[in-house]
Amino acid sequence: MTDLPRLRPGFLWGASTSAYQVEGGWDADGKGPSVQDARTNIPEGTTDFRVAGDHYHRYQEDVALFAELGLKAYRFSIAWTRVVPDGDGPENPDGIAFYHRLIDELLAHGIEPVVTMYHFDLPQALQEKGGWSSRATVDAFARYAGILFREYGDKVRYWLTINEQNMMILHPGAMGLEREDTVEARRDLYQQNHHMLLAQARAMALCHETLPQAKIGPAPNIVSIYPASSAPEDVLAADDFSAIRNWLYLDVAVHGRYNPTAWAYLTSKGIQPAFAEGDQTVLAAARPDFIAFNYYATHTVAAPSGGAEDVGDTGDALVSLGEAGVYRAVRNPHLKTNDFGWELDPTGFRITLREIHDRYRLPLLITENGLGAYDTLEDDGTVHDGYRIEYLAEHIRNMQLAAGDGVDIMGYCPWSAIDLVSTHQGVRKRYGFVYVDRDEFDLKELARVRKDSFFWYRDVIARNGVSAS
Ligand code: BG6
Repeated sequence: MTDLPRLRPGFLWGASTSAYQVEGGWDADGKGPSVQDARTNIPEGTTDFRVAGDHYHRYQEDVALFAELGLKAYRFSIAWTRVVPDGDGPENPDGIAFYHRLIDELLAHGIEPVVTMYHFDLPQALQEKGGWSSRATVDAFARYAGILFREYGDKVRYWLTINEQNMMILHPGAMGLEREDTVEARRDLYQQNHHMLLAQARAMALCHETLPQAKIGPAPNIVSIYPASSAPEDVLAADDFSAIRNWLYLDVAVHGRYNPTAWAYLTSKGIQPAFAEGDQTVLAAARPDFIAFNYYATHTVAAPSGGAEDVGDTGDALVSLGEAGVYRAVRNPHLKTNDFGWELDPTGFRITLREIHDRYRLPLLITENGLGAYDTLEDDGTVHDGYRIEYLAEHIRNMQLAAGDGVDIMGYCPWSAIDLVSTHQGVRKRYGFVYVDRDEFDLKELARVRKDSFFWYRDVIARNGVSAS
């Protein structure tokens, strides 16, 4: 029991991973290479994704741990390249069979599968044919979605289309993609974005057509944007950035139309996407059943100064990313930071939940939230991650307060269920409830160890929340 507002019955207490970051088995059983396997920008001294947490071979042990943790839901992604190795060619029965086994294992343990269809791992073969710049990739995604619905539709109730499309556009380096700052390159980037929005809309429409019981939604990274001061210019910059970073993606997903502020920005720079005949109809026809989103921390911005400091994408993803000249990213002096310089803002989580709910009035599913940190495996086989417990407790408390504010929250799936490889900072940046004993290059035994946060979260789930203090 908790003295904070109650969460809805059947609340999906869960945890998340993504295929390329946790599975390993990068070329096992007919899997094709994805853009993550082909990455050339992995920082020196940092592991690649070939073995990751070896979940592909140890999924049974991992699911048993998730069950012991008490998870009601497990949010994971399907690797497109296991199902269709080259993205648009023959299906791979062995890859398809793996996800049947994983889903069956989850269901046997009473864990609801929440499936992301695409999490940063576009098939490399499609990338070589133009990737998301090509409209053929939209067709390939729609076909892939159809295969997933055909195969797993009778077992999976919750579907997520594309993970953090907005981060792929605003921070492509972390996904292994190049970022160029010419007008042509940026126009192409927003054309890719448009194609992903079309692909998502087609998947949502197909899901509703073929699986009337299923629910589907987008999964961007959404955070509230604070103005650095009450100066109207700072407030305007925050509003502009929010339109470009957040609402562009959700307005199209929910209402089938571009956010006017974001569109005005794109046209002012000459980088707006071209619409083909029928695009508007496709976008307008699709409706999500819920909004999934990932939350790590708010951003704080000031009016752009016109100088070099306005340029986004400094590599510090959560401080300065995105569109040059729109705003100037500033540190929020009221917030602490984690080991990696990311700001921590649990109250901002409540604010963000309210803001999304106010705009769209759809149920919300939190698909990521968590603390990346250096964990230590002690000699006695324990991992004392009290800092993670503190982070999660504060966020859960604020989520419960948001529920009391009237926000309809379906579930909470923090990042990550088990340690995995971070997008660009290796395996030493850990998020999991379960420690995976390996280093960047020494795989050791890949043994699984329950962290202190594991026992704590198990208790939170059993009590359906945290208490007020
Ligand atoms: C989100 C992604 O951006 O944040 C995950 O969906 C990612 O794939 C997570 O791992 C944490 O980011 P990072 O860079 O620390 O791995």
